[in-house]
This record gives sequence, C-alpha cells and structure tokens, in this order.
Amino acid sequence: MLRLPGVEPRELAVSGARAVACSNIALVKYWGKADVERNLPAVPSLSMTLDGLRTVTTVAFSATLTEDVVSIGGSVATGKPRDRAVALLERVRALAGVPHRARVESANDFPTAAGLASSASGFAALALAAVAAAGREVDLSEVSALARSASASAARSVYGGYAALGAGAERAERVASAADFPLAMLVAVTATGPKSLGSTEAMTRTAQTSPYYRAWVEGAPALFEQARSALLSRDLRGLGEAMEQSTLQMHATMHTSVPAVVYWVPATLSAMACVTELRTAGVPAYFTIDGGPHVKVLTSPEHADEVRAKLTGAAGVLRVLSCTPGPDAFVEETWE
Ligand code: DP6
Repeated sequence: MLRLPGVEPRELAVSGARAVACSNIALVKYWGKADVERNLPAVPSLSMTLDGLRTVTTVAFSATLTEDVVSIGGSVATGKPRDRAVALLERVRALAGVPHRARVESANDFPTAAGLASSASGFAALALAAVAAAGREVDLSEVSALARSASASAARSVYGGYAALGAGAERAERVASAADFPLAMLVAVTATGPKSLGSTEAMTRTAQTSPYYRAWVEGAPALFEQARSALLSRDLRGLGEAMEQSTLQMHATMHTSVPAVVYWVPATLSAMACVTELRTAGVPAYFTIDGGPHVKVLTSPEHADEVRAKLTGAAGVLRVLSCTPGPDAFVEETWE
C-alpha cells in the first residue's frame, strides 16, 4: 500500500478500510450513454474480471480533514480525477450519514506506465473501500451501482468471473463464476504512456458525430445475447466471434467520428493478424481492443502458452501479460 509522505492514514482516521478490485475486459462493449447525467449505458455489456490487474484502495474518514485528499499511484490527484473520486465519496457519505472528509490512497499492482491503468478497478475498489470505511454493511449490488455512477465499466469489476451491465441499468449482475468457464486472456501491450483521449470524451464524440452510432446501439443487444448464451454454454468460438464483432463495430463508430478517434497503432494490427493466423492454424484465439492500442486475446487455458509466445513475437508488441478470470472485489481490512 502506498502512503502519502509522512502520513499514516490510521493516525488521523475515525474509521477506515482497504479494498481490492480487479480490472475487467469487456467481451461485449459498453460504448455510449443512455443518460449522461446519471451515467447510464446505452448498450448492454458483458465482461471478464481479470486477476493479475488489481487496484488496492484505502479510504480513511477523518474528523481533522477539511477536504478530501485523493492520492493515485503515489501522486495527489487534482482536477477531473479528483472530482470523480470526490463525487463518489459524496454519494457514500449521503448514504451512510458520515460527515467526515476522507483520505484516499489508490495503487495498481500492474504496470501503469503501460497505459493499462483502468478506471474500472479503481472506482470499484474506491466504492467498496468507502462503503466499508463508512461502516455500512457491504452489499455488492449497491457497491456496483455506486461504482457505475463514477464509471460504468467499474460496475462490472465488483463481480468476479463474468458480469453484465444491461442497457440503462444502474448496477451490474453476476453472469457466471470463474470456475463455470475457465478461460485465459493474454494482454499484448503495444504502447507506453497514457492514451490520447479518455473513454468518456471519446464516446460522447462518437454519439454526437458518427453516422454509425445509431446502428451500433440497435445492434448491440443481439450481440450481447449471442455472447451471453455462448458463455453460459461454454462455447468459446461463439463467445469469441461475438466479442470480435462487438470490438470491430465499436471501433468503426470511433473511426467514423469527427474528428476520428483512432486508438490503434501499427502493433495493434500486427497482434490482430497474429490472432487470425493462430485461428487458421486451429488455435481458438479471439481478439478484443478497448479505448486504447492494446490487444487482449481470449483463448482456452490449454492454448494460453502458445498464444502468448505468438503474441510476444508480433512486430511492435512490447510485452504480454497473462490473466485469468478474477475474484469478486473484497475488503482486506477495516479499522476504527
Ligand atoms: C471501451 O467505463 O471508462 O472500455 O462510464 O464514461 O467512465 P465512463 O466510461 P468507461 O468506458 C469503458 C469503455 C470500454 C468498453 C467497456 O469497458 O465496456
């Protein structure tokens, strides 16, 4: 756990908690909002929660603080990142009747320099730590709704295994556990540094300017159903095909926005080509790409090493991380 220089959170705390949440990768994408004010998604999404990409967050409510202090990865947050965290803390304070400001420390256990830092694990861990620190009984459904208000993809990170967030839904739901369908996800890191444009801004531009946005919203429920039933019947091919379609349709709306939103770099395409080659050779491997240049490849645990080796050799791929479906978000410790 990272600490602000010279400050021990417990010294000042009225009550505190530390929580852990894993990142998630959308197999069927959320892209676009039904209600911008309430941050409700326009389309249903389905995700795998990823072990190996975790955020650990401590929230300590303190009677001596006059404002919330938020530290992310060892640096004190300002501007939008701080505002989003404070808005979430406000919701928890209102729900739990806690008057105190909080000190928040959040750190990822995965390489943030690789541009993989995800708001999903961050806001899921923050929502859970804040609820637990406020002394409220933990209800994952409520935590999911709180996380969603900050970032819709975060609603899904509250649940381990596989989770869904319906169109217009306030909270995610568990779809299947990790044990129901053990799969592997290889993350081909293709660039360093933060991404060029945040997802929230990019999806707003897409909704306002892409001629394909309406078609995307109309077609998403069918893709979601296809993926969900493939997942429940342990059909990797059906799931992988729906996932690639969802990815390509989402990126088509971005590419046709004005100005265009293009997250892909040359290594994105070389990793995608590797996946096609693997399939031609009979290996079950399917790609997905979020709002960034990295390529995530879904395969069976038996083929994970082969897929990893192939991706490692792709032109421009910097490194490959191996992930499996992760656990529910959980509280590590609480104190008063
Ligand atoms: C491409 O959840 O980051 O990763 O709700 O505005 O915070 P906000 O957006 P965010 O968008 C995630 C977009 C995505 C697809 C997905 O995770 O479903």
